Amino acid sequence: MDIAVIGTGYVGLVTGVCLSELGHQVTCIDIDERKVEMLENGKSPIYEDGLEELLVQNLQKGRVDFTTDYRKGLRNKQLVYLAVGTPQGDDGSADLTYIEAACRNIAENLENDTVIVTKSTVPVGTNEHIKETIEANLVHDVTINVASNPEFLRQGSAVHDTFHGDRIVIGSDDNEALVMLERVNEGFGLPIVKTDLRSAEMIKYASNAFLATKISFINEMANLSERIGANIDHVARGMGMDNRIGGSFLNAGIGYGGSCFPKDTRAIISIGKEADYDMPILENVVDANERQRVIIVEKLLTRFSSLNGKRVAVLGLAFKPNTDDMREAPSIEVTGKLIEAGAEVTAYDPVAADNAKTILPDQVRYAGSVEEALQHADIAIILTEWKEIKEFPLAGYRDRMNEAILFDGRNCFTLDEVRGSGVEYHSIGRPV
Ligand code: UGA
Repeated sequence: MDIAVIGTGYVGLVTGVCLSELGHQVTCIDIDERKVEMLENGKSPIYEDGLEELLVQNLQKGRVDFTTDYRKGLRNKQLVYLAVGTPQGDDGSADLTYIEAACRNIAENLENDTVIVTKSTVPVGTNEHIKETIEANLVHDVTINVASNPEFLRQGSAVHDTFHGDRIVIGSDDNEALVMLERVNEGFGLPIVKTDLRSAEMIKYASNAFLATKISFINEMANLSERIGANIDHVARGMGMDNRIGGSFLNAGIGYGGSCFPKDTRAIISIGKEADYDMPILENVVDANERQRVIIVEKLLTRFSSLNGKRVAVLGLAFKPNTDDMREAPSIEVTGKLIEAGAEVTAYDPVAADNAKTILPDQVRYAGSVEEALQHADIAIILTEWKEIKEFPLAGYRDRMNEAILFDGRNCFTLDEVRGSGVEYHSIGRPV
């Protein structure tokens, strides 16, 4: 099929490239000329495992191309995917500025009938608004239909998730649009859930809100466990073996971050407010996560009477491993609080350091390796469980630090590993 994808952020780019891999003819449209030029040259502007290889292969096969020109990009396309950002507005609701702008551009440049497929996470009812906005501004005499096809990709494993996801959700109030989308997605070989527009939009928010709830729940159990002498690893394992609960997303730590869970949980609360319905569970999930992010600093302040002049090595800055994304990363608040308390912070992240430099306090120094960050440090803190951080031997802490004291915000080591290592070890939800 002939497909256009608007927006080459991580959702749009992964969608476009993966659809071309299935054999569809895809044009990706973005207003950012620099990005388009990079992509045309086979360079991915985001760090995503396996993406650049697929991009290059499909560029060579002539199945994917990039443009800033809407008219050219939309020409003869049967499907147009909307994958622009929906950042958080000041009141917590989703900001639809980019969606609106894309709708106007579509309306002005569309010259044939098409189905508009929304990939972006949008409040329930937005797809109807998209249809109205485009129809009200159409320049040519064409018919459009709308469909919702929310994405469930995780950053860092987006390509893998596209081909191995648990399900594909497609929603539309138009049967022909549903049939078309089903055909486009058949090649992925995954179960397809067909539903109406509003339910598809809701599935996305409900799924992210549920996963965020699971994380805040296990973090609450962890905080209690460490107070009453239980071990959250064992608790989570025992709970997760119950199929009704499921073992994934039960890793206790310093809370969730990123561009999705924080934004989507606040957005669904805001949708509730508009519908005049309170959402006490989710409000508490959000509050609990905000407290959890700084729990590591509280632990430090309980252990030391003052952090003034202490040399702190911070290991990992991205909101999770395998990404350079710093959005809503716990490291932002943690380093801010450490600096405020007078600590000297040296940070290391294998990929996110450049992005971190533009966000973290200026006083933060950056090291080129775990070893360098630990050299002569008084305290080490793990904030992101990168493989190289998880696998860094405990003896390395002992050899390099002034005193080997480790606060592990991601439970990278088991208590058995730590026993007898000579490292004073503090983690989340486990007895000290
Ligand atoms: C999340 C969802 O997992 C995707 O299904 C969804 O498509 C995406 O949001 C989105 O809406 O675009 P992502 O934000 O990339 O994906 O990252 P996750 O791997 O889900 O992790 C989110 C946060 O939760 C991270 O900060 C991670 O450290 C934290 N987390 C995750 C935990 O603290 N504990 C866990 O057990 C799992």
